This record gives sequence, C-alpha cells and structure tokens, in this order.
Amino acid sequence: MKLDTIIQGGTLVGATGTTRADIGIRGERIVAIGSGLAKLQPNGARIVNARGRYVIPGGIDVHVHLELPFCGTISSDDYDSGTKAAACGGVTTLIDFAIPYGKETLQQGLDNWHAKADGKACIDYTFHMAITNWARQHKDIKRIFKQGIPTFKQFMIYEKEGWQSDDAAIFGALETLKDLGGMLLVHAESSRVLDMLIARHHNKAEMKKHGAYLHTITRPNFVEAEAIERVIHWTRVTGGRSFIVHMSTADGAELIKRAQSDGVDILAETCVQYLVLDDRVFKKKGGHLYATCPQLKRPADQRRLWAGLRSGGVCNVSTDTCTFKTKQKAMWKGDWTKIPMGMPGLETLLPLVYTHGVLKRRLSVSEFVDKCCTSPAKIMGLYPRKGALRVGSDADVTILHPSKKRKVNWRKMETNCDWSPVQGWELAGFAEHTFSRGTQIVDNYKFCGRNGHGRFVPRDHVGRP
Ligand code: URP
Ligand code: ZN
Ligand code: ZN
Repeated sequence: MKLDTIIQGGTLVGATGTTRADIGIRGERIVAIGSGLAKLQPNGARIVNARGRYVIPGGIDVHVHLELPFCGTISSDDYDSGTKAAACGGVTTLIDFAIPYGKETLQQGLDNWHAKADGKACIDYTFHMAITNWARQHKDIKRIFKQGIPTFKQFMIYEKEGWQSDDAAIFGALETLKDLGGMLLVHAESSRVLDMLIARHHNKAEMKKHGAYLHTITRPNFVEAEAIERVIHWTRVTGGRSFIVHMSTADGAELIKRAQSDGVDILAETCVQYLVLDDRVFKKKGGHLYATCPQLKRPADQRRLWAGLRSGGVCNVSTDTCTFKTKQKAMWKGDWTKIPMGMPGLETLLPLVYTHGVLKRRLSVSEFVDKCCTSPAKIMGLYPRKGALRVGSDADVTILHPSKKRKVNWRKMETNCDWSPVQGWELAGFAEHTFSRGTQIVDNYKFCGRNGHGRFVPRDHVGRP
C-alpha cells in the first residue's frame, strides 16, 4: 500500500507499554505499524526521523474554554490561538463547553460554539453541552445528543452567571442521560456554604490584609468534598453516570475512590495546575493572576492527586484552559471576588505532566499517555479514532524528545496571553512534531498548520478508562 508519511524508528508509547516501530500514514489515517516500512515504499513516502524520540497519540484535553464570556470579560484564547497553542503542546483534540446564555436554548448555545470554532480551529474539537436551566432545557437533551454530543455539564455554583443547577436538576439530568447512554459532568462546589464564607470575609480590612489569598481562605476543601458527596449520592440512586470536572482536593479523591469501590459509576479528572502549583502563589506579588475555580490547593492535595492518577481513582489530566491577560486580571482592584478566574494551559499540559510526572518518577511514560491521551479518549467516546496509535486510528501523532528541556516563555508561545503560571520553568515534553489527521501541524517546535484544518468530531457514546 502506498504511504504518504512514515514516522520512522521511534519508541511508540501506548497506555499499556512501549515498542520500537515505524508508523505508516496514508491520507488521514494510520494504515501500517511495523519495522522497515520505508523498504516497502521504494517510491518515496515522506520519512520523519523519530529515532531517540517518544511517539505518542496526540494529547486530548477534555476540559477547555475558548472565547468564553465569563467574570465580566471574554477569555482571550479563541479557536485560533487556543488550537495553535494546543498543537505546540502536542494536543490534537480538545473538548470545549458549549454554554447557553440568558434565555438561549441548548441549540442556540451549541450553534454559537460551532460558529466560534468553524473555519478557525487548527486541531479537531468537540463539545460538552452545558445545561444552565433544567426546566427550560431538559426536553432538548435528546436532540443535542443526536448531534454528536453525549456529554452534558452542570455547575453547582455560578448563580450570578445564571449557570447554577440545584439537586433536582442534577438528579433529573442523571436520569435522562442514563436512558440515553450519556454522561453528566459536574462542577462540584458547595455554593451556599461558599457564598457564606465569601460574605464573611468580604470586607476592606481582610481584603487589604490577605489580598488574593482570600480565595484560599473562602474555599476550604470541604466546599468541594460536600458537593462531590452529593453528586455521588445522586449518581448512586439514579444508577446514572457522572464525571467530576477539575477535582482539586485529596478529600475529593478519597470520596471518589470509595464510591467507585461501592460500585457507583463516577469518574473524576484533575487539572494539571492542581498537580504542580499550590495556594502559596496567592501570597506572591501578582498572585491574583493564579485565581482559578476551584482555586489551587495544598501540597498534600497534590500528592494525593498524583497517587490517584497512579492507582486509578483519578482518570485523566486536563487543563480547564480559560485564559485571561494581565489587563483582564487587573479588573479585581484588590477584591478577590472580581478576579476573572482561569489560566492558560493547553500549550503546557503534556510538558508539565511529562516533566513532573514521568521525569520525577510519579508516572511511567505509559501512564502519562494513558492519562493524557488514551483514557480521555475512551471516557469521552473518541476511542479508538483518537487516543491510540493503531491501524485505522486518525493519524494524530505527537513526537517528543524524552529529556531535552525548553524554558517556558509566554513571549514565544502561541497562547494569547501575556503571562504564564509556569514562566521560566524548564520543561521536557513539548511537541517537536505534531500530526493532525496525517497533516503536520508542528515542525521542529513551530506551528505550521492552518486555520480550518480542525474539524468537529461527533460522538455517539461514552466509555470507561
Ligand atoms: O476558573 C475557571 N476554571 N474558569 C472556567 C469555568 C469553570 O468553572 O470551569
Ligand atoms: Zn468549573
Ligand atoms: Zn472549566
């Protein structure tokens, strides 16, 4: 069979092991895996030398917000800069959240998100659909499902944004999605207690004294833990399937582990910032830049989340990319409740998990691929089209140098941001080359793809890691 491209001599890394082999690509797919593929192609496929490199399935970031109207502004990475950043970080598929605003229907919310991405995206993408008003929107869930969206999201906080869901809405969504074979994603924080803690500390004296550290003071671990307990309860009694997004606490990881061993069909991701940053950043000059939601926790939480990735209770690592520039972050003017919440992340996801996971021996290289590529694909219904180096899979391939480090410098990155939460950090694991459906989109660490190459990927099921 004629091949277009051969990725030659690399160490292919899968979720369960590594092997030395060539990858043959024709059109958009992987069509051959084996040794000596070039010898079978005398008429010249393009050869990409991957000797001494790891060759992995492109990363999958299942939690991304691009061009999100939020906290009184709009997140600064859109489908142009965000997907270029993803490509340079070795991520070849992202999942964003389509969110209806005001009185919009689910369909209008979804159409709006298609319009943001269509013709602009440089990598493949799909959406989770946010349910922001159960009474008005629940009857449209099936219709959205049929358009390739089996994953829905509810927020237990964000009353002011008009996004909040109560227990009845969560219960109803779990029941409905169970019947359809879908999955409910939940932002789990206990809103009434959180609001009370915020009100208790929202005064000039404390804001002057603690600044952005009030984020930590008002979001103790039990704010997340109580909410996760409730989701576990509703998941158990409905027999539905749920997924806790951006889990940030050791307490949450313990609850999920226990629930899973009791047979509750619940999964939980963490985000890379909860693994490598902790709440001491809020005490630094410029600490307000790190405000995200949920906020960063403590080193003990980090240790528990890494352990959960290893033992299975934490099923994948994503970013919750929601980029705000310094000017946007400056809107806080000393009041932590007004800081736009979120950070850039897509470009450094794989490098951070590789460097702080694999090189620090917290994860094997296969576990790294499992948590950043294969399990996210399986859980979100993208596997084996995505997340695998298999004959028949999309030729989404990332090539990494196993040890060469590059210094993070936002000035030289694709993300549309003027700061980085990991500025100056030395990281290995950036994409030396990235292929998206057979097309090279990163060459020697430089983006070389094009807008409009990325496509919407419809999904019709969800799965397990
Ligand atoms: O701070 C964050 N994470 N912003 C995005 C909204 C959310 O809660 O995921
Ligand atoms: Zn959230
Ligand atoms: Zn989010």
